Amino acid sequence: MPPMAWRPIHLICYCILFAVCDITNADGAETNPFKTPKVTDPKNVGGLEHNFYETNFEGAWELIIANAGVSSMHMALFHTNKVLMFDSTAFGPSQIPLPNGKCRPVPKKPKEKDCWSHAIMYDLVTGKIRPLMIYTDTWCSSGSFSPEGILVQTGGWNDGGRAVRYLEGCDTCDWREYPVALSGQRWYSSQQILPNGGYVVFGGRRMFSYEYVPPEGKTNPQKSDTPLALLRETTDIYENNLYPFVHLSTDGNIFVFANNRSILLNLKTNKVVKEFPVLAGGSRNYPGSGMSAMLPIKLRVINPPVIPVEVLVCGGGQYPAFKLAEKNIFLPALDSCGKIEITAPNAQWEMDRMPAPRVMADMLNLPTGEILMINGAKKGASGWQFAEEPYYAPVLYRPWLPLGQRFRELTPSKIPRMYHSTAGVLPDGKILVAGSNTNSAYNFTGVRYPTELRVEKFSPWYMDPIIALKRPVITTRLANLGTLKYGMKFLVDFAMPQDTNHKEQVKVFMYAPPFTTHGYSQNQRILELAVKRFIGVSPGRYRLRVFAPPSAVIAPPGYYLLNVLYRGLPSKAEWVKIA
Ligand SMILES: *[C@@H]1O[C@H](CO)[C@@H](O)[C@H](O)[C@H]1NC(C)=O
Ligand SMILES: *[C@@H]1O[C@H](CO)[C@@H](O)[C@H](O)[C@H]1NC(C)=O
Repeated sequence: MPPMAWRPIHLICYCILFAVCDITNADGAETNPFKTPKVTDPKNVGGLEHNFYETNFEGAWELIIANAGVSSMHMALFHTNKVLMFDSTAFGPSQIPLPNGKCRPVPKKPKEKDCWSHAIMYDLVTGKIRPLMIYTDTWCSSGSFSPEGILVQTGGWNDGGRAVRYLEGCDTCDWREYPVALSGQRWYSSQQILPNGGYVVFGGRRMFSYEYVPPEGKTNPQKSDTPLALLRETTDIYENNLYPFVHLSTDGNIFVFANNRSILLNLKTNKVVKEFPVLAGGSRNYPGSGMSAMLPIKLRVINPPVIPVEVLVCGGGQYPAFKLAEKNIFLPALDSCGKIEITAPNAQWEMDRMPAPRVMADMLNLPTGEILMINGAKKGASGWQFAEEPYYAPVLYRPWLPLGQRFRELTPSKIPRMYHSTAGVLPDGKILVAGSNTNSAYNFTGVRYPTELRVEKFSPWYMDPIIALKRPVITTRLANLGTLKYGMKFLVDFAMPQDTNHKEQVKVFMYAPPFTTHGYSQNQRILELAVKRFIGVSPGRYRLRVFAPPSAVIAPPGYYLLNVLYRGLPSKAEWVKIA
């Protein structure tokens, strides 16, 4: 490894001692943040952005749990560094019993009891797995974290359709359940945290409406939900509009995407303030399950009145894919992607193409500002045994590259991750990958895709061991900062090899951990914070003066993972709380 250059300009910096550098995004006067930087060498495989660290590493897989006991249909990372994985209570025996010899009554079958656990908490630090107790059925449910880091989890099937459940991330915590708290049955719905710390739940099977999660212990009156025409109008004979993609925009409106249409909804007036052009090409929502995420929201010290935000929608299914899969005909999934700046006055979809078709995959915001697409299949639709050709290779998406150059396939896994699989970004930057059960019960024999209980980690390119020592390391105990206030300045110290020739390449990200199921990570959000000052404290030690997000509309209250990025290499992330 060549020693890092110690360039004269920074000698000058150090000679002045504690020299201070204002950096590019400090004054709000710089160029359009969405402008694509010029790529000088398209074969610059590592980073592709100018001055990125280069690496030929295309990622690596490791098996971390041989048998998790439960197949991970839903996944969420707690700020206590524990990962919740759970499926449905309706799929019969799992492979891990309930704690302390407990059993649960089986709804509508008074003579039966179920002594198997359907949810586990996996401790990232100790590697231990703890079975949890759920009564109501969580099959195809929804969720988000509260401002206090409690998982607020809604809906499901049967006795779980109107349930609201709470789970805290402690070592001994277990579910608190309120089986009839919601007004309607929310099965395949999407939940969004709001700036005021409340939650709204959209859609679900035959539920063309939205409603707010009541305070814990309270119940929404029957039929108190608000109808949403978009959900009724986009249901086709195969539905294709379940698990709608819901994103809180930077102007406070809610972006809702269902099937091939999308709107901005004002929740104060319950009015649709804008309808975007149709995204042609096929269905993007369950069972034609595509993926969606917001690109990083770029903040400045002085922000424009409306902060731009772009939404990406990729893959999905052809409209009749579900119906034909019933006859064992597996249509190729969609390989098209649409990107739209939802805050722009005349927003249009910019179309792009992935390396291959993809359905039922996960789309995650990486701590580099890139997007990762992982899991899923190349043919078919969501549903039991309705897909074929597992898509083993994750795909990296670099939003800053020119159209046509943004996607790259990475090292494939060897494990099919079909229907009911999940993935999540971890604090160290690795990706946890779990689940896959395309059968109506845990089934390991006589089926094409056995129920998957193995859990893997995927290391993206920035985990290349060769550049590990170049990664910045946060040296501030961010937890000691206490709760961040909106708009406040705070200091982040970090260490890295001496190399400050690219100070414009210092970034700080804040990532809201999502609730992931069915290829959609609800409440996923990544912010690039405004960095005002980049200060050399001593050789190899640096200090950033960072602005917290300006408001709860930009960053709803709660816990976020914060990481520093230098020349494309992310530090490990630390938890911060904002309120
Ligand atoms: C949008 O989806 C509907 C429902 O599946 C379909 O009938 C319509 O043709 C689609 N529109 C376009 C432009 O693809
Ligand atoms: C597994 O699936 C096969 C094929 O559908 C079926 O015959 C078998 O009964 C299933 N086994 C279990 C344990 O459900």
